[in-house]
Parts: sequence; structure tokens; C-alpha cells
Amino acid sequence: MQSNARQTPGGEPRRLNSDRDGLIEAVRLLRTGRLVAFPTETVYGLGADACSPDAVAKVYAAKDRPSENPLIVHVASLADAKALAEIPEELLHLASRHWPGPITLAVPRRQRCPVASAASAGLSTLALRMPDHPVALDLLESYGGPLVGPSANPSGGVSPTHADHVLADLDGRIDAVLDGGPCALGIESTIVGVEDGAPTLLRSGALDAAVLAAALGQELRIPSPSTRPLAPGSYPRHYAPNAALRLDAAAPRPEEAWLGFGPDPPEADSAVAHASLSPTGNIEEAARNLYACLRGLDTKADRIAVAFIPANGAGAAVRDRLRRASVPEAS
Ligand code: TXA
Ligand code: MG
Repeated sequence: MQSNARQTPGGEPRRLNSDRDGLIEAVRLLRTGRLVAFPTETVYGLGADACSPDAVAKVYAAKDRPSENPLIVHVASLADAKALAEIPEELLHLASRHWPGPITLAVPRRQRCPVASAASAGLSTLALRMPDHPVALDLLESYGGPLVGPSANPSGGVSPTHADHVLADLDGRIDAVLDGGPCALGIESTIVGVEDGAPTLLRSGALDAAVLAAALGQELRIPSPSTRPLAPGSYPRHYAPNAALRLDAAAPRPEEAWLGFGPDPPEADSAVAHASLSPTGNIEEAARNLYACLRGLDTKADRIAVAFIPANGAGAAVRDRLRRASVPEAS
């Protein structure tokens, strides 16, 4: 009989099929405080019981994540979100329009919210999201409670869009990954909060801020760089491969790999290595391919030149990720 999971030498399951047996096993692991990565429409999340301080502590440890950087809490429905947090009118409007979907709301915790306070790094707000992925939703419904789900990669690194990426990064640090195939959108959710009564864009992401502005009938406020970073995880360097990135390049220089978008310059043929986010210049395809391309080129080159990416649609988030990924490591 075919086993549902590949076994580690220690006998622990690692890759779970996203069928009924895989879900049952994932729920069993989560109920005993273990860590199970799961697919979402954006990137893979590292799942654990959001109400268990021990399980949440294990997530921070597995990712080497600074304890001041709070986690996103995933829920199965808007009703479940309302039970945990007080969602202001405007954000409720966005959630009812776009959930399940790639938008996260940073909203005040309810007084007796059962989510471990470490999950929100001691903040009075909670980041909540209902993912638009059948496996994630089945898992949340079967589990019957909220799950934390930061991207399933070591802190600061390139996010995972395939189960293989999760295993390459975190094998031995987590208990299993539910394999749901490649993520459809490939870039993290858009995070929206409220500051001084105004809906505020805390992180650009897969859902275009212009679409949210249209739904609200007003532009989202952009937090000024001089104020406290409102999404505590918005560190300057993030999503970074080991290779150095040079952005908005016209062509690769000697010793550089080339990451293209649209038609390639002739020099791309002689680059150290070569990948394309989207040969036809499709911005959604570029978002979907971004992290896999960065991971692939990172194994082949120390320097990557990246073509100009326009900021329309998902392009704003792609540019944001590339900008952060290109910030040199602090020495
Ligand atoms: O698409 C996504 O959002 C993915 C999938 C797995 O759901 N998750 C994800 O999680 O990107 P993570 O941990 O990699 O990024 C979460 C971001 C961090 O920048 C964190 O600082 C911010 O959300 N965040 C969490 N709680 C917050 C809060 N209460 N207020 C403001 N920002 C918050
Ligand atoms: Mg992340």
C-alpha cells in the first residue's frame, strides 16, 4: 500500500498529500502542538495552533524569527475573525468583499481573545486572514480553530511557493508540510490596518491597493517612513537570497545572472545563468514566479541583474519585495 507521507529516518512524516488522510494527519499533529506547513494562494504558511503559547514559541524558533515580529493568524471564516477581533467598518467592508483572499487585516484584539499574545508579539492588534485555498480552508475547518501562518521560510529569506521550497528550508525544524502544489499568486497578502481612523496600507501584496481603494471609495493611507513601522516585520532587508541583486537593469554585466521580464536583451544569452519572470511581460505571472526564480538563480550565481518591472497591479508588491531583497546584509 502506498504510504501517504514520505518518512524521515526518525519515522516522522514530512510531506503529506493534500487528500483526506493527509488532512487528518495534519490535524492530529497540530492538536499535539506540532508545526505543519500548509499551502495558501499566496505562499506556504507555517501552521501551528494560534491559541497555544508553546506551539507559537516553536514557530518563532523554527524560523529564527525575532519575537517582536508578530505572526498572521489564519481563520476559516469572517465570523471566526469577528470572534477574535473588533473589525472596524471599513475593513469589514473589505473582508466581506475580498475574503477568502489575499488581504490581511490588522485589527484590535478582543478583550478575551484566546490567541496567544506572543502570536501578535504583545501588540493590541491581531493580523487576520482567511486564505483562498481549498486545502488551507479544509485544514482550518477540520482543525476548528485559528492557526498562525507566517511564511514557511527562515526569517528574512525568500518565501516558499512550493512544498519543495519548504522542505529545502525547514526540513528537520518542522513536523510536516501539506503538499498543495505551487501557489497560484506567489506573493504575500496585502496588509491593511487603521491609523488615526483611516484605512492604511501596511504591506503591499497580492491584492492591488488600487482595487481596495476603489472598494473603499478612498485611497489607502501610506504610513510615512518617519513614523513607527506599522507592520513590524517590514524590515529594510527581507525576502533576500544570498546573491546580491541589481534592480531595474537593462542587461546583465559580466559575472551576473539575468532575471528577465518581457523580451530579453541580447546579452542575456551569455549571462552566468538566466531565468524569466514572464517572457510575455505578464505581471501576475511574474509575481507567481518571483520566489522560485530567485531561489533557482541563487544556486547558480553570486550576483543577479533584474530587469525593470512596472508597478501596475501585482507589480507594486513585486517591486517592494525586490527592493527589500536587494538591501545588502548589515555587516
Ligand atoms: O500571504 C501571507 O500573508 C502569508 C501566508 C502564509 O498567509 N503569510 C505571511 O506571513 O506573509 P509573514 O509572517 O511572513 O508576514 C506577516 C507580516 C509581517 O510583516 C508582520 O510584521 C505583519 O505581518 N504583522 C503581523 N501582525 C501584525 C499586526 N498586528 N500589525 C501589523 N503588522 C503585523
Ligand atoms: Mg514572510
